[in-house]
Amino acid sequence: MSEFEFDVRAGLGAPQKHLSSKYFYDDRGSEIFQEIMKMPSYYLTNAEFEILSMQGSKILDMLDFEGEFSIIELGAGDGIKTKQLLRSFLKVDACFEYAPIDISAGALDTLEENLKRDIPTLDINPYVADYFEQLAKLSQEPKPMLILFLGSNIGNYPSDDAVQLLSAIQQRIRVGDKILIGFDLKKNPLTIQQAYLDPDGITKSFNLNLLRRINRELGANFLIDQFDFYCHYNPETGEVNSYIVSLKEQVVHLKRLNESFAFKQNELIWTELSKKYDFEEIKSLARATQFEVIHHFLDCKHYFSDCLMKRA
Ligand code: AVJ
Repeated sequence: MSEFEFDVRAGLGAPQKHLSSKYFYDDRGSEIFQEIMKMPSYYLTNAEFEILSMQGSKILDMLDFEGEFSIIELGAGDGIKTKQLLRSFLKVDACFEYAPIDISAGALDTLEENLKRDIPTLDINPYVADYFEQLAKLSQEPKPMLILFLGSNIGNYPSDDAVQLLSAIQQRIRVGDKILIGFDLKKNPLTIQQAYLDPDGITKSFNLNLLRRINRELGANFLIDQFDFYCHYNPETGEVNSYIVSLKEQVVHLKRLNESFAFKQNELIWTELSKKYDFEEIKSLARATQFEVIHHFLDCKHYFSDCLMKRA
């Protein structure tokens, strides 16, 4: 059984149904995510774009590396924001190799093509690999490393999982290596709600696309119109939780699993956590994983932080 089959089976079979947001990103899902990033209400993109394009040289200064170094990006996506950072590093003649790591070969091909065209002088070495295995390999080289984990991807991890992830990274790098993590910050709750509950239903189709994917890849018969989308921001916890809602009582069959799943009317499938942080929480996450916060690089509205940490 593939990991996808296993997870869908466990998730739809659970008393509180859930499907992981990591499965949003098939080809169509990645396209819809591009649409989300273009929505004016999805402030995260512009905020981080601003940070990486305006503060590149300050970030470079604070890395405090002498000579050559490596930039290792975990889950690079389309790389448009990273491109700004790489550009500003090259402008001041920094000497580095850029190694994006992703499990999707397709995403990496597009990224490589795009970057080679736009920044011909860039030394790029993409790896289709597991994050941790590749990190362990790259840390055998003598060069210091900057790890990039941008775009508020950390927000998808429940607190314990975020600690586990950063610990796993911490164990595979050396003292002095740095990590730049994109955190979406707590702010006016309405601003956050509007980023996820858009009037055009783009985020809804992003979620429902997961049912289409299950139809296609696991031979299921989800009737997409019989499902809706709901999400909720809780400013007390900083959590946006997203759900697919069954609009009626119904049974869905998955041929590949040879199994059926019953839905009650208004039953939820939890699909995503998008956690918003404050500075205290970032500090305790760093402390719990033996990192030390060096600096918060903020956009002008203080909506987002690209937080530079070093292995303590
Ligand atoms: C890519 C995980 C940062 O949580 O904001 C956008 C994905 N979900 N709209 C986020 C997403 C709904 C996004 N991340």
